[in-house]
Amino acid sequence: MKVATTIESLQDLLKDWTEKKHTIALVPTMGGLHEGHLSLVRMAKNQADKVVVSVYLNPAQFAQNEDFDSYPISTESDIVELEKCSADAVFIPNSEQIYPKDWSFDYQVGEISSILCGVTRPHFFNGVAKVVYRLFEIVRPDIAIFGQKDFQQLFVIKKMVDDLSLGINILSHSIVREQDGLAMSTRNKYLNKKERVTAIQLSACMNSAKDKYLSGMQIDKVNTELRQELSENFELDYAEIVDANTLKIITDNTVQIGILCAVVLGSTRLIDNITFWR
Ligand code: PAF
Repeated sequence: MKVATTIESLQDLLKDWTEKKHTIALVPTMGGLHEGHLSLVRMAKNQADKVVVSVYLNPAQFAQNEDFDSYPISTESDIVELEKCSADAVFIPNSEQIYPKDWSFDYQVGEISSILCGVTRPHFFNGVAKVVYRLFEIVRPDIAIFGQKDFQQLFVIKKMVDDLSLGINILSHSIVREQDGLAMSTRNKYLNKKERVTAIQLSACMNSAKDKYLSGMQIDKVNTELRQELSENFELDYAEIVDANTLKIITDNTVQIGILCAVVLGSTRLIDNITFWR
């Protein structure tokens, strides 16, 4: 596996692969890799001839008061794990490479960035779109793979690819969970022992809401009870039951439901979601 820290060294490799007509998949990450990320890499290996994983902690998607400075970095062990998953290259650029002075990006994500996570993190999706676009520009992948835990992020990226006609196939992998149901996340490292036990309630409450909905309870009541139950354990950011294909209110045309939640536990923000057929 090639470890590239500059665009030039990565592009030497990409040029060679392109000349050989290899298809290329990109798995963008911010490092702090866990099984969730590694499952994206394994999926990428099945979808393309060559797999590039980027590891870049993107300042543009963090607000001043967020955890950019404390975000868990584990580059050495990330490289070891990526090698074990047979990634073909890992790209570990610095900010000068990603955001050179003469580079500009004026795409605005629009309405979808101001709902759900965008309410308390208004900077977030434009920051994600910016770095993902830049990575696409550098790597020019055929395919890019993202995790479904960041469900809204997936929408934003698909929309950007459509809006800008980037011609990249965006694929996603289902959420990878700990045995007790907690969705894997780099930020889970922030949880102390007591919080780690409480954190299980997030997926438990969502699953209970799903059961209530499927057994016929009226949706507003399901949502109210879900918010109440989450509030007993967490500081609630949002809990919404939406059309999983539009992120909007459920209508007669809705075929798949999404329960999307964000909560704060101590100083850790957790997001999670489940989707199911109506
Ligand atoms: O999902 C993430 O880890 C990040 O938001 C991403 C897509 C790598 C962009 O920094």
